[in-house]
Amino acid sequence: MSPFLITTTLTGEATDAALRADVLRGLTKTPKTLPPRWLYDARGSELYTRIMELPEYYPCRTERDLLTAHAAEIAAITGARTLIELGSGSSDKTRHLLDALPDLDTYVPVDVSESALTQAGHRLTTERPDLNVHAFLADFTAGLALPGSPGPRLVAFLGGTIGNLLPVERIALLSSIRSLLHPGDALLLGVDLLKDERALVRAYDDATGVTAAFNKNVLHVLNRSLDADFDPDAFDHVARFDAAKEWIEMRLRARTAHRVKIPALDLEISFTAGEDLRTEVSAKFREQGIRGELFIAGMQLPHWWTHHGLYGLALATPTPGGRAGPGRRPGFLLP
Ligand code: AVJ
Repeated sequence: MSPFLITTTLTGEATDAALRADVLRGLTKTPKTLPPRWLYDARGSELYTRIMELPEYYPCRTERDLLTAHAAEIAAITGARTLIELGSGSSDKTRHLLDALPDLDTYVPVDVSESALTQAGHRLTTERPDLNVHAFLADFTAGLALPGSPGPRLVAFLGGTIGNLLPVERIALLSSIRSLLHPGDALLLGVDLLKDERALVRAYDDATGVTAAFNKNVLHVLNRSLDADFDPDAFDHVARFDAAKEWIEMRLRARTAHRVKIPALDLEISFTAGEDLRTEVSAKFREQGIRGELFIAGMQLPHWWTHHGLYGLALATPTPGGRAGPGRRPGFLLP
């Protein structure tokens, strides 16, 4: 069997400190917000896997179709020998890409969910004994040191997860990715596209309530990790499209005025009736917008595929002689 390595740059203590800082910052201000990262404990990752199968949730299926349709082309263009995947999750849709890349030597999945990484890693090493799988348990928004691996390298950031970042955070992350890329390397980016508001809201508020359970799961995470006493039944799941910002938001709306204790932070917070806690933004893109953000980060977009304008797959390359723009930060290292 090929080696399956998992490198942890996320210690339990660092994760715990980050959670505490996010909760303290996010729940003591108005409006209340939490970063979407905390939705993904083992149960949250499993619920997201179920979301991907919902009839209303088109992004995943559409991206899979795009990957299947263009995998051979992507392979021919990039000739990738290393595939680095940010936010790899269950690595399910990556399979099409892995199967289509004939010269692939190393797969580097990067995710914050240990359960998703180990499951995917073990499955892949059995299915693809020829492949070196080196998983990273890491928060890629915090910068990352990755091992040396054979080029050309293809960095994949799929699922529309880039939409979870705010615009300034997107530029910072794209710039970090840019600093990973040598000439001949590429970035494969999946982005959800702007469309009819009703279709968007339906995708984030499905009929069977899986997305509602996924959203409320963050309260279970806080109860377990911080000994808090959130009552998930005291909140309604809300999916709301912000037309000015061009993103969809998930919120938890308090049904009644009530207080919640968070003993680990020595904190008590109060909700008014109807008050919202924003748990996620998921930006929806236009081609020109994503092209512009890639440009700022020092990349160009020679290949762009869409599925009936629903979802876009961008294959970006470093601008020759260019460098990452003002958002560039050190921290991503790939010798
Ligand atoms: C995993 C971030 C791509 O934003 O569509 C699904 C998460 N939230 N339903 C998305 C999600 C609600 C998803 N991403």
